[in-house]
Amino acid sequence: MPTPLDRKPTMIGEWWQVFAIYQVYPRSFQDSNHDGTGDLQGIISRLAHFIELGVGTIWLSPVFTSPMADFGYDISDYRGIDPLFGTMHDFHELLAACHSAGLKVLLDLVPNHTSAQHPWFLESRMALNNPKRDWFLWRDPSPGGGPPNNWISQFGGSGWEYDVKTGQYYYHTFLKEQPDLNWHNPEVREAIHDVMRFWLEHGVDGFRADAIWYLLKDEQFRNNPQNPNFRPGEPPQQALIPLYTADHPDIHAIIRGMRRVVDEFPKRVLLGEIYLPIERIMAYYGRDLDGTHFPFNFSLLETKWEARVIARLISEYEAALPRGGWPNWVLGNHDRPRIATRVGPDQARIAAMLLLTLRGTPTIYYGDEIGLVNVPIEPSQVQDPFEKNVPGLGLGRDGVRTPMQWDATANAGFTSAQPWLPVSDDYETRNVGCQRDDPATIYNLYRRLIATRRQRLSLSIGCYRPIAAAGDLLLFVRQHEDERTLVALNFGSEPLAASFAQPLQGQILMSTFTDRASEAVNGEVSLRPHEGLMIDVAIGSEIPPSTI
Ligand code: NOJ
Repeated sequence: MPTPLDRKPTMIGEWWQVFAIYQVYPRSFQDSNHDGTGDLQGIISRLAHFIELGVGTIWLSPVFTSPMADFGYDISDYRGIDPLFGTMHDFHELLAACHSAGLKVLLDLVPNHTSAQHPWFLESRMALNNPKRDWFLWRDPSPGGGPPNNWISQFGGSGWEYDVKTGQYYYHTFLKEQPDLNWHNPEVREAIHDVMRFWLEHGVDGFRADAIWYLLKDEQFRNNPQNPNFRPGEPPQQALIPLYTADHPDIHAIIRGMRRVVDEFPKRVLLGEIYLPIERIMAYYGRDLDGTHFPFNFSLLETKWEARVIARLISEYEAALPRGGWPNWVLGNHDRPRIATRVGPDQARIAAMLLLTLRGTPTIYYGDEIGLVNVPIEPSQVQDPFEKNVPGLGLGRDGVRTPMQWDATANAGFTSAQPWLPVSDDYETRNVGCQRDDPATIYNLYRRLIATRRQRLSLSIGCYRPIAAAGDLLLFVRQHEDERTLVALNFGSEPLAASFAQPLQGQILMSTFTDRASEAVNGEVSLRPHEGLMIDVAIGSEIPPSTI
């Protein structure tokens, strides 16, 4: 089997910069033991998919021992594999198979909280003077009774849960089944560092660290201010400004400590999940690039889908990066609406070209390569605790976690049993099997985009230069040495022509449609509605601002 490395002529740049990341949500990828839920053997059986698609890194959402209150983001044994997913033996098999295929594997590290069933928490809650009491955030009730302060949970309601036995409350950023660890305590830091070493010694290539902007909370437990812009009916977690519960000034020392652990092992990475405004995210690279290798850049998940807005967003992000900081881009994940639903099927193709031509590591969420949409979930089918806690606001995440659609057989080839979430109704026509054979499908677009990105150093490691444009046109150039790739994306439903002050000389490398490859460009560039083009620009041909 050709490996991603074999297919790349030269490897310049680190693997985590060059390889596209593919996020696997293990519950929904492939079931192998007929229980309706995906598992590790299922992922092993689908390894050829990663190779065919061309991604180089897979990130597994949590597979550790868990009561599954938050589907694995509540861990009761950081060193164990949950039986739902398989065994440690299965995990080693998956890791070895990935490595021999040239694929890297990232695990999901969940350091902010454990499960309420974790032995650390069970001990901690036993008595006020338990040695592990301070591993979690315990507080007396407020003087008048009730929670110690106004901190709320991200999943609705108070962030404090009363414990009758010891008469104190504990804090949970997420569910009450997910008590927060106290990262001010050095023993906690060491304990999680040891968990990291455990998996790094087993050979994993690094971590996506969950919710790390929440790790430290105010030691004085001050109330968070009210959000003056909050309106009733908006997600309740936005009612307060998380001044004292997130993005603590000392957080970077904590992350530096985690990075040092990762750096004890050669060629491993630490990536961080951080939802903050661009300028605050940048601090998570660390002052001397000694924080995360990169904090995920979620700005495309939240932006208005308009060329001018996105042009500005890219420029702001590029400008805010610290010197030497490596960028990255994300279109979807297991917490956010599917890109194909958000922007529609035509623009999903533009989004794919954007993701795979921007400077920085691209992350692809499973299923986006076949244009999976948000699947409507009936009230009786709801699994997500967020939706159960805060129903009816459209916050539920089940619809973006439905089974991967492999073929047109029952349950899309995902399982022979009742799947844990419904399979999308469109599976007979939207699946990997049928899309593979049709060059016009989004699946083959993704494959061509990833392959082109691998072949062209301008796209993988080249510099980024925006080109002024107007209306629905987004234009930029990627360049490495004398290789230049012009990217032209039409965000609208009308044809467009980009003309330049001096005629542009070049050749089309690919369109988001199937035709036009090798077409010569001499002067103007025309784009059909919802079309994206990659153009190899002849050396010597200047690329002045577009005159459109
Ligand atoms: C972020 C994860 O992406 C999300 O799925 C989870 O519910 C919370 N962190 C809590 O771990």
